[in-house]
Amino acid sequence: MIYAEILAGGKGTRMGNTALPKQFLNLGGMPIIIQTTSKFLLQPFFSGILIVVPNQWMRYTSDLFKKFFSEDELRKISIVKGGNNRNQTLMNGVDFIENNFGLNDEDIIVTHDAVRPFVSSKIIEENVKAAKKYGAADTVITATDTIVEGNLANDLIKSIPDRKKMYQGQTPQTFNIKKLKSGYAKLSEDQKSILTDAAKIFLLTDTSSVKMVEGESINFKITKIFDLKMAELLVGER
Ligand code: CTP
Repeated sequence: MIYAEILAGGKGTRMGNTALPKQFLNLGGMPIIIQTTSKFLLQPFFSGILIVVPNQWMRYTSDLFKKFFSEDELRKISIVKGGNNRNQTLMNGVDFIENNFGLNDEDIIVTHDAVRPFVSSKIIEENVKAAKKYGAADTVITATDTIVEGNLANDLIKSIPDRKKMYQGQTPQTFNIKKLKSGYAKLSEDQKSILTDAAKIFLLTDTSSVKMVEGESINFKITKIFDLKMAELLVGER
């Protein structure tokens, strides 16, 4: 089975004071989370699509989805309770799948930020293909700016890695679910607390290789007001 997990458990604090968490804000007249979910509903191979949101937004999400999607589409969708950080949210989705559908060796989960509504079918399909072959896949784009590594203690530059080898991570990140689970279980509490990226679980625990899938600049994450304005311009253009 192949599942999609839309990560929408965050509060969107960097967006500033908005009436709703950013994933529920309107973009060209339709909530961002609805636009993102639509991209996954387009794919015929998903057995289930999990929408993982903060506990207090579960009812709201369920009502919202009923307004936009048909009975048929809603049958594929489950609203799941999010966690205190992104990885906990992700793992709540994994637990939900295991408890409700069971887990097989080949099962795959395509995890995606709710706030990247411009993801393409091509990226989703490439992710699935790569995760089937390698066990894990991460969407990246080549870094256009030089990446500088700094030293937090003294604000001095520590290193300037060769830009040709630097990439910026996007989502989807796609994993064989059993491997993701076993890798996560091997992490110490310290490792879990500083883990900012789910693909790193595979690297830290040597669980399997992570295949890079080429992303697209337009698949950017709506993080701050500037990104929302950019997204509005793009939607207007389309
Ligand atoms: N996310 C999540 N569960 C969390 C935290 C984040 O599912 N506990 C999701 C967000 O909803 C978002 C994605 O992860 O779709 C990317 O994270 P980010 O842009 O950092 O979102 P927020 O945590 O909401 O934003 P901020 O850091 O500004 O508060």
